[in-house]
Amino acid sequence: MSRTTPESHPGRHPDSHPDHRPAARFTGRTALLTAAASGIGAATARRLADEGASVLVTDVDAAGAERVAEEVRAKGGDARPLGLDVTNPEAWPEAIRTVEEWTGRLDLLHLNAGRNLPGAIHELDDTSWHNHLRLALDSVFYGVRAAVPLLSAAGGAVVVTGSVHAVIGFSGFPAYAAAKGGVSALVRQLAVEYAGRIRFNAVVPGAVDTGLWTDAPDEYRVQTAARTPVGRLGEPEDIAAAVAFLGSDDASFITGQNLVVDGGRSISSQE
Ligand SMILES: NC(=O)c1ccc[n+]([C@@H]2O[C@H](COP(=O)([O-])OP(=O)(O)OC[C@H]3O[C@@H](n4cnc5c(N)ncnc54)[C@H](O)[C@@H]3O)[C@@H](O)[C@H]2O)c1
Repeated sequence: MSRTTPESHPGRHPDSHPDHRPAARFTGRTALLTAAASGIGAATARRLADEGASVLVTDVDAAGAERVAEEVRAKGGDARPLGLDVTNPEAWPEAIRTVEEWTGRLDLLHLNAGRNLPGAIHELDDTSWHNHLRLALDSVFYGVRAAVPLLSAAGGAVVVTGSVHAVIGFSGFPAYAAAKGGVSALVRQLAVEYAGRIRFNAVVPGAVDTGLWTDAPDEYRVQTAARTPVGRLGEPEDIAAAVAFLGSDDASFITGQNLVVDGGRSISSQE
């Protein structure tokens, strides 16, 4: 396996490797992950399984969820796939029943669904706007509503994937900013509401090299990396590490927070 160098992965210690793992923090614990067939969700499935979790890998792409679960099992991890469209409120109780019948507990719920919707507000039609909010924000409502009893019983945690679009304005993405801003506020609200029973936090990624970036022109990727103090796009594993931290006992005194993981993009004045 190739060694990570400061040149190839700025911001990382030369002795570290993206696969570096702290001690298993999730042994005997169960996690349900959404939108986990690719990108950040899939990396989180791998990370949590490596740390000992039983992982229910869900995605609207059921075959993709199966592929990720199979990959985890092939490496000795414990994972099951489930087709789950997070925008369908009726599918959520069934997903929670699946996890309850499997391990009897739910320690971590990672609500990760979302997608960019470019378009200035005067260009967006009602359907695009509402579908966008349904995917990234309503899904959090549906998922948390269904999972509260099981999460409460385990003293569990919820981590929602937000975005730096909730923190800074990028021209041309108003629906995305609204949805992720809603996520940001909702985790604070829920953290207070369920204090002492369930912790709620958001991980707030900057640009991360996933399917969302597939169609981005090379020039834009280079420009984005140059505007990021750490000097590169994020990798899904960078976000997975933050989700694992927020979902673990290492973060037992952290709730209602938005943890920005963006290589410094949102604190920099670089244009
Ligand atoms: N990649 C980035 O630069 C970036 C930056 C900030 C935030 N995010 C957020 O990270 C999250 C994950 O995105 P990613 O970058 O890993 O993208 P990705 O395209 O790699 O993965 C998205 C996954 O969502 C699934 N999905 C789509 N609709 C769904 C539905 N209705 N129900 C369940 N699953 C559904 C897809 O099948 C896919 O597997 C999103 O919430 C995104 O907004 C990404």
